[in-house]
Amino acid sequence: MVVGTGAVGTGASSGVGAVTQGPVLVVGATGNLGGRVVDHLLARGKKVRALVREGTDASRLEQKGVEVVRGDLTDRSTLAAPLRGVSAVVTTAAGYTGRRRGDSLATVDLQGNRNLVDAASEARVPRFVFTSILQCDLAPSVPHFWTKKLIEDHLASKGVPFVALRPGAFIVPPGAGWDFWSKGLRHGQLRSFGPHDVRWTWIHIDEVARALSLAVDAEGVVGQKIDLGMDRSPSMDEMAAEFGRLLKRPIRVVGMGGFGVVMRLLSVFSPRMRDMNAMVAFFASGKYVADTRAQAAFLGPVPTLEDSLRRYVATGQLS
Ligand SMILES: NC(=O)c1ccc[n+]([C@@H]2O[C@H](COP(=O)([O-])OP(=O)(O)OC[C@H]3O[C@@H](n4cnc5c(N)ncnc54)[C@H](OP(=O)(O)O)[C@@H]3O)[C@@H](O)[C@H]2O)c1
Repeated sequence: MVVGTGAVGTGASSGVGAVTQGPVLVVGATGNLGGRVVDHLLARGKKVRALVREGTDASRLEQKGVEVVRGDLTDRSTLAAPLRGVSAVVTTAAGYTGRRRGDSLATVDLQGNRNLVDAASEARVPRFVFTSILQCDLAPSVPHFWTKKLIEDHLASKGVPFVALRPGAFIVPPGAGWDFWSKGLRHGQLRSFGPHDVRWTWIHIDEVARALSLAVDAEGVVGQKIDLGMDRSPSMDEMAAEFGRLLKRPIRVVGMGGFGVVMRLLSVFSPRMRDMNAMVAFFASGKYVADTRAQAAFLGPVPTLEDSLRRYVATGQLS
């Protein structure tokens, strides 16, 4: 649980008035979450600049009117120019998702984000919005969670005015990224990678993006680590019941079957699989539950479970 952890460095007094009219720099804008952040910022009338790696297609961003600058988190020398004159930076970038050969937790999420924090500190960026993970500071056993905690610490130690948003697990609509559910739901099954009766927090990916876009100039958020979730954290049994109501057919929870065995076997060789297995064990501990009071106070209405799953079902790909 994290609510309003108080002042950090110089940022405690930075409200809307301290934020300039420069563009918002989005790092990770070609990704699933970052692309949605860009759309929300544009819808809010913000000027958006995106830091995009050489070799990554940025034409869709350019078509939307985004200023594209080339750079790479792993190369500190490329970060000063993109940060010049910005009103805020939002980073959703991740290496553990492994989009390119050589991407890793150590190179991108840890060292790359440290580089960005250092460059933001030197450029005196008025606000740094960091995409963290719910309860990361309780999870030293989960490398990609713990790395978020280390970056939050680094932001604080550098005195950068930051807000860390800590979302729960993403609900990603079918056809829009990593899809764990839709195939099973067509056959009356909700696949679970944890126990069916333990509650943990979920949030629709678009609600995460909306919150990140609001955090660039929301009042009262600087210096906080804010949990993001829904009006309640359901067990998989509750999720199945709600999907059943929406789809008007019974839905039952099933485990991962052979995939779970493969995950455990692969973790002998693969650090990424070990990370994923540790995450699943952390979910099973019952600690991955958001306290959404700060979200409600600073970032608008907390989404409901019903509405979040209705949006998933409304994609029309489950019959
Ligand atoms: N999934 C969940 O349930 C969950 C829960 C809580 C928090 N999160 C957080 O949400 C974020 C996920 O974002 P996402 O879905 O948009 O990820 P994604 O689709 O994998 O996108 C990753 C982005 O990072 C960029 N990137 C990677 N390495 C880079 C580098 N060296 N320099 C600059 N940019 C780099 C990628 O650029 P390219 O296009 O060039 O590859 C891409 O734009 C992560 O921070 C994750 O930790 C996820």
